[in-house]
Amino acid sequence: MAQLLDGKALSEKLVAEISTKIATKSIELRAPHLAAILIGDHAPSKAYVNNKIKTCEKVGMASSLHSYSSDITEAELLNLIEKLNRDNTVDGILVQLPLPSHINSKRIIEAILPSKDVDGFHPLNIGNLAKGYDCFVPATPLGVTMLLDHYKIKTGGKHCVILGRSAIVGQPLSFLLARNGNPGNCTVTLCHSKTVNITHYTRQADILIAALGIPNFVKKEMVKPGAVVIDVGINRVEDLSKKAGYRLTGDVDFEAVQDIASWITPVPGGVGPMTIAALIFNTYKAWSERMM
Ligand code: GUN
Repeated sequence: MAQLLDGKALSEKLVAEISTKIATKSIELRAPHLAAILIGDHAPSKAYVNNKIKTCEKVGMASSLHSYSSDITEAELLNLIEKLNRDNTVDGILVQLPLPSHINSKRIIEAILPSKDVDGFHPLNIGNLAKGYDCFVPATPLGVTMLLDHYKIKTGGKHCVILGRSAIVGQPLSFLLARNGNPGNCTVTLCHSKTVNITHYTRQADILIAALGIPNFVKKEMVKPGAVVIDVGINRVEDLSKKAGYRLTGDVDFEAVQDIASWITPVPGGVGPMTIAALIFNTYKAWSERMM
């Protein structure tokens, strides 16, 4: 039976450590400030942003929520970003994705000052990540590497198979795990929707990371016995027995896969809380660097 990679417990520990550092440093300095921009009423986005703001409050960071209806124009959004870029009391800016289709996400992300891009989505940060330079690492991939590091999962020389090539998760994770570092030094295979015979690859994985957004996609037969299985999926599936009318399910068939994996992340309580902890880490880093 697999051991649990407990993202909830680890995120609480990391967040508490950052909170202590802020309490010490912000006696003379102002507190770090995260500005979050939320457009429209996409329910999961609202829940994620509220969680981020709540965690800021918990650690003693300032936060501001800039919430607009989906008919905001691209020019108005660019103006807001420009204002936050110039505001010396703002350390981190995040624009919750996805944006409405009339807004060009690329243009919006590129408008954020790279030194305030705590999501690590700006091409300059992604480019620095690909080159192995210091940068803001996107929160979910950073959270995954923090989990591997904390539980001392050996990655050097291992075959890591990543399912999903998104710019937010799969692609940056492939850079992180292939780099010459720790965690890192993996042989990485990046599978995606056009990969032929995906099971051929997943069965070879020492570390299998599922980030495709398809509930219960990874079945027991697809997993090599003893593999480390990381589930990035947070899918809402209808469940009328729940008050909300849905429950959260990962991309991995947890019940069956836990029998043969060596380590596994639960959903909820695995990668999700680590994403928030990593965002808090990035905001702390942005603030520390601005205050230097
Ligand atoms: N949408 C899904 N994941 C993320 C994230 O990590 N950051 C932002 N800004 N939007 C997202």
